[in-house]
Amino acid sequence: MSTAPFRRVLVTGGAGFIGSHFVRLALACGIPEIVILDKLTYAGSLLNLEGVLDDPRVRFLQGDIADPDAVAEAMTGCDAVVNFAAETHVDRSLLEPAAFVQTNVWGTMVLLEHATRARVSRFLHVSTDEVYGEVLIGAAKEDDPLRPRNPYAASKTAAEHFAFAYWASYGLPVLVTRGCNTYGPYQHPEKFIPLAITNLLSGQPIPIYGDGLQERDWLYVDDHCRAIWVVLLHGEPGQVYNIGASEHRPNLAVARALVELLGADPAAIVHVADRPGHDRRYAVDWSRLAALGWRPRISFAEGLAKTVAWYCERQDWWRARRDDAFAAYYARNYEGRTSVLRSS
Ligand code: NAD
Ligand code: TYD
Repeated sequence: MSTAPFRRVLVTGGAGFIGSHFVRLALACGIPEIVILDKLTYAGSLLNLEGVLDDPRVRFLQGDIADPDAVAEAMTGCDAVVNFAAETHVDRSLLEPAAFVQTNVWGTMVLLEHATRARVSRFLHVSTDEVYGEVLIGAAKEDDPLRPRNPYAASKTAAEHFAFAYWASYGLPVLVTRGCNTYGPYQHPEKFIPLAITNLLSGQPIPIYGDGLQERDWLYVDDHCRAIWVVLLHGEPGQVYNIGASEHRPNLAVARALVELLGADPAAIVHVADRPGHDRRYAVDWSRLAALGWRPRISFAEGLAKTVAWYCERQDWWRARRDDAFAAYYARNYEGRTSVLRSS
């Protein structure tokens, strides 16, 4: 992969799941300097950056993207920004939507403002396929209408609108990626695949919302990071790039594959009350990104096996994430759902 034409890149949310993988990729691709700005919420951890923090090219700043002083300091000397920082879990957005507006909308606005003042040459905003809302048939193209249906997706949509407003109004060279569901090592155990794996490894069932026939397109994290890298280097400012894997699966099929990989009892798959406003299906057309030369390299079967192997090996990592705060969240999110528990 080509070396970046940047001197210093600000990566926000670099201590989270995808951001930490992206930092590793950018270092491997020869980025001269990276500044990581991360608030270290429950979702972020310096343990995600093991092996990275002692690289002399990396500077880590703990701070909030919604704090103009923290952003001003982090932005100093940067000529590109990749914004991963966000509240990212749909279930939490249903419990506490205000936090999503604060970070995802206001925080993005603060970053856009300081990036404009710093005259960066690229501002890549990492968004999600959830902004389209549910796509019952076919695949969403970048110019399709945005119809977000949960507070997380609504906040990501609002952030995109601000990003394009800064492009059109102030000439900030904004690029937006809309990635599909991503999985792999270091993903917080609140998300479906790591939740299912770590529940099975803890002797707990996999809670399937509703009938489990909701469909997602599953992208391995390394492929997602390479896509962001390609768009950062070769994308056209003012454009959106969908990122898909064309690996669509109903949730129930994912759960069954995990039960098989871990040699667990199929009765561990239980149906619980559905998520309110649960989007039935996501799907994106990623031909615009393919035209830049990107393709996913890891199949779902390969990626899932690698992911399961990592969670089996790194119990130290995920057991620390499943702490008392996680237990409190888990009780709150899943209480009331269990009344309809049944085996699949
Ligand atoms: P994550 O929840 O694992 O990590 C988010 C990171 O942002 C954490 O390190 C957290 O500490 C940090 N953060 C949160 N609020 C912050 C704030 N106010 N200031 C600074 N840092 C803050 O998320 P992820 O899954 O790695 O997602 C990264 C980005 O990719 C997000 O913007 C998300 O919307 C997008 N995305 C994720 C997926 C997916 O399936 N995971 C798919 C498409 C797009
Ligand atoms: P999730 O990982 O939360 O991602 P998203 O909601 O952004 O797609 O969930 C993926 C799918 O799995 C989604 O259809 C909801 C479903 N799901 C369950 O069935 N049970 C669970 O406990 C969780 C967390 C998710």
